[in-house]
Amino acid sequence: MAHNWQDPAFAEAWDARHLSGNPARAEHLSLLLAILEQVESGWILDLGTGSGLVARMLLDQKPQARVFGLDSSTAMLGIAKDRLEQYGDRVRLAEGDLTALDRVDAPAGCSAAIAVQSLHHLEEAPYRAAVRWTFDHLAPGGWFFIIDRLAVPEWLQGNGDRPLPVQGILRLLEEAGFQSAALDVRGDRGMLIGRRPA
Ligand SMILES: C[S@@+](CC[C@H](N)C(=O)[O-])C[C@H]1O[C@@H](n2cnc3c(N)ncnc32)[C@H](O)[C@@H]1O
Repeated sequence: MAHNWQDPAFAEAWDARHLSGNPARAEHLSLLLAILEQVESGWILDLGTGSGLVARMLLDQKPQARVFGLDSSTAMLGIAKDRLEQYGDRVRLAEGDLTALDRVDAPAGCSAAIAVQSLHHLEEAPYRAAVRWTFDHLAPGGWFFIIDRLAVPEWLQGNGDRPLPVQGILRLLEEAGFQSAALDVRGDRGMLIGRRPA
């Protein structure tokens, strides 16, 4: 079944069950929060922020950090707005498309960016453009964390997702100028990291 992020009922159902059917998610998010200890405070870009679940974790973990959350779903952003209201001007939410990032007015010189289960919605060309755009918005030494579905041929889903193989994502990171590594790969889920050279 295709994901319909614009459908408020689908958005609420996904938010309520975000950990189900994906045992790697909790572990990858826990790893992300641990590594964030090493990341300087400042703006963190959250690409495909959805209902703000991960943004809230970042804001709680790093009291000096600010989050710029981008998503194309009005329904998901509506949930995020309520969830993140308590953080005031530490949060900026924007409705925009990961395939048209040149139209997005995001902060520059960010300390980190994350894309959690969002980039697999993109075809390779816009994925490449999104990785380059992210590189350009990071400060030297900035970090890019990708937690996402990976292409494993026999397991390809029929739900409209377009995951890339882990080697493909690493190549796009390197092409954009990042130093890259796969931190964890299990089944069709992975956590990859890109570091903009200092
Ligand atoms: C699986 S949810 C993940 C949300 C959040 N990152 C998290 O982990 O809780 C995927 C999100 O990506 C967003 N998304 C999908 N394609 C997008 C696109 N082309 N531009 C912006 N957001 C997109 C969806 O609206 C949805 O909110």
